Amino acid sequence: MGVDLTTEYLGLTLSNPLIVAACPLTREISQIERLEQAGASAAVIFSLFAEQVENDRLHQTDRAEPASRNSPSESPLPQKYVVGIDEYLKNIELAKKAVKIPVIGSLNGSDVGEWMQYARLIEQAGADALELNVYFVPTDPTMTGSQVEERYIDIVAAVRAQVKIPVAVKLGPFFSSLPNMAARLNAEAINGLVLFNRFLQPDVDINTLEVSPRLTLSTRDELRLPLRWIAILRSQLSLSLAASSGVHCAEDVAKLILAGADVVSMASALLRNGPGHVTVVLDELADYMADENFESVTDMRGFVQRRPGTDTTALERANYIKTIISYDDEAPV
Ligand SMILES: Cc1cc2nc3c(=O)[nH]c(=O)nc-3n(C[C@H](O)[C@H](O)[C@H](O)COP(=O)(O)O)c2cc1C
Repeated sequence: MGVDLTTEYLGLTLSNPLIVAACPLTREISQIERLEQAGASAAVIFSLFAEQVENDRLHQTDRAEPASRNSPSESPLPQKYVVGIDEYLKNIELAKKAVKIPVIGSLNGSDVGEWMQYARLIEQAGADALELNVYFVPTDPTMTGSQVEERYIDIVAAVRAQVKIPVAVKLGPFFSSLPNMAARLNAEAINGLVLFNRFLQPDVDINTLEVSPRLTLSTRDELRLPLRWIAILRSQLSLSLAASSGVHCAEDVAKLILAGADVVSMASALLRNGPGHVTVVLDELADYMADENFESVTDMRGFVQRRPGTDTTALERANYIKTIISYDDEAPV
């Protein structure tokens, strides 16, 4: 008997829990088609960045709405990312025509601003949902943690007000109290959280003596971060939870669903192995579920998560100690 892989995400019914994360693969319609054929259940289109909106304001003279025509500064985006807003929106329209799976637009910024109005244009272009990526690195020593959190809330509230389609917020893990932040975001009527944005850290080139912004693909070790937080947040929140970072194979997908994820998203593993990797992962996931007598993803979801009412602080501490003493210096890995 086959297993039922369907899942709900942001109010959408998906054929399985494996979605494509925002990445270069979703810049091309032909790749999105291949990913759909391989079995991906939704695709998050690469982001429209706030900096792009700024760039567009510099170079477009024929757009009256919603951007103004003032041009205060040059865009810091590399040329290949300067696709222009019209091209971005066209890409969403074309993707919607080309595939049947849900197409999720992605808007990426770090401060309240004009870019947020583009949520509406992404909705009008036909996106089934919007992923809002707030990537902010506080460097000002006078800015408090509360002020950082307010900034997130302000951005999310403003974007939420622009659209009727479901909104997922993609954020990083670095908050003093992630459960409190997640609950506050939930109160802004968002539909899901994407955990997590990878914290991309620039390197220093010792030959050119410059800071080099080098993006490396993820490794499976990175999975532990979303795994832990999804397990903690699942029993606290009813909104959708998507895992992002370090999902490379069927075992990773299974772990995250057992912890409580509604969907998992993949970028690095698909960039490394190509769209066909989706089929391999889904086949292996179905085999695992059949072996473990899980009839459906719904049965499996949150199976190992903590029960409501459990003292999660004590569990965290206990896990921390257990993990430290689990190190075997005879067999280091
Ligand atoms: C080359 C590349 C480009 C990416 N572009 C975007 C983007 O435009 N918007 C975004 O929200 N995330 C972007 N990401 C992050 C991915 O969506 C994902 O969150 C991250 O890579 C972690 O997932 P992974 O471990 O499966 O790679 C990008 C990742 C890579 C590797």
